[in-house]
Amino acid sequence: MRSKREQWSSGIGFIMAAAGSAIGLGNLWKFPYIAGTSGGAVFLIIYIFFLVILGIPILLSEMAIGRFAGENAVDSCKKLSPKFGFVGGLGIAGAFLVLASYGVVGGWVIKYIFKSFSGSGFGTDFFADYTAQPIEPILWTFVFIAINVIIVTGGIAKGIERVSTILLPVLLIFLIGIMIYCLTLPNAAQGVRYFIVPDLAGINSLSDLSQIAINAMGQVFFSLSLGMGTLITYGSYLSKSTNLTSSTVTIVTLDTLIAVIAGFAIIPAVFSFGLEVTGGPGLIFQTLPVVFSNIKGGRFISALFFLLVLFAAVTSAISLLEVIVSWFSDKTGLSRKVSSVIAGGAAFLMCIFASLSFGVLSEATIFNMNFFDFLNFAADKIVMPIGGFFMCILVGHIWGTDAALEEISNGGKLKFRLKPLFSAAIKYIAPAMIIVIFISSFF
Ligand code: TRP
Repeated sequence: MRSKREQWSSGIGFIMAAAGSAIGLGNLWKFPYIAGTSGGAVFLIIYIFFLVILGIPILLSEMAIGRFAGENAVDSCKKLSPKFGFVGGLGIAGAFLVLASYGVVGGWVIKYIFKSFSGSGFGTDFFADYTAQPIEPILWTFVFIAINVIIVTGGIAKGIERVSTILLPVLLIFLIGIMIYCLTLPNAAQGVRYFIVPDLAGINSLSDLSQIAINAMGQVFFSLSLGMGTLITYGSYLSKSTNLTSSTVTIVTLDTLIAVIAGFAIIPAVFSFGLEVTGGPGLIFQTLPVVFSNIKGGRFISALFFLLVLFAAVTSAISLLEVIVSWFSDKTGLSRKVSSVIAGGAAFLMCIFASLSFGVLSEATIFNMNFFDFLNFAADKIVMPIGGFFMCILVGHIWGTDAALEEISNGGKLKFRLKPLFSAAIKYIAPAMIIVIFISSFF
């Protein structure tokens, strides 16, 4: 016998938890460097386009599935159609993949908090040297995973919701402070311009544009935590009276706001010191520390910044862990605590290989990628689009948009003006776009 399902203690609590899931390394680490390498403002415009026509309808659909079915990701999908359990299963596999790379980066972040305080500063080679070490990064990764296991063990309202409700406002307030500070650095205006004024000079062909579209769609999925059963799982703890549409709008707005604030902090700071934003994943770990080491009081700003990154990473990683734990404990009947430890332990094992792929295992490749890159590739380019595609098919054509809209409108009690748009997006536009972009990403 399964015990009664837990619930969020309030609608706001749910929004905080779901926004906490959305706001993560995707906003503070990936978004600024992807925007930096994909044409700045041009990327931003395409990103917002996908946010509206793909992100919002799919987010809403996942929440509706979860609340309607009230089960873990696999059983919720099965409840809508017995053949579609695999969509939830794909999500659980995907959550593992993301968690494995998240754990490694989370470990780096903890190291950077402490390292910021030490007077020695970050040399230019620090990042490469540190991540190549075999032992220390794995220990910090262990600490990161352990923090997540402890929170998830606390349960829905008392664990995930409580932590998110505290950390998210702190993140928002201090990040705005850092942004204001960065905007007052000399030459910051150049960075602002790069970020908000479209420059078409770098886009010379259809393939440049499609590359930006691929990155933008991937980023929308990743940033909103879509396609991996996260919002199905979180939705299953919702009360029937919560307004799903307004929750969605709030979550998407907060997520985008934080990404843009991070961009306004990081890109101008980097420009201010004549450094490149186009360097890729090393942006916050390699380039930004050089910026911090050049400004007065930079040590504290650096420590604060990485602490905020940690907060964002934790509220996201717990959502990935919860997807797995919810399914695993339903399936095995084991307690939440035992399930959390087992799921966290399994994720940690994958983290070990991912971490070592920056050092001793850097030569071990799968399809020409090291293990860390392979995890990201499999999650972003394979599992998320496929999961998202079948989610659209499930909601648009199997469960049906009428049934979904019945759930979204709380049985007709709430008005939802964009019904036709939602239906068209879920049935046709979103799946078609996902297919086109999925295929073009292989050329
Ligand atoms: N959205 C988070 C971020 O931006 C990461 C994340 C959490 C995620 N849960 C997810 C990504 C589920 C994909 C699927 O960092």
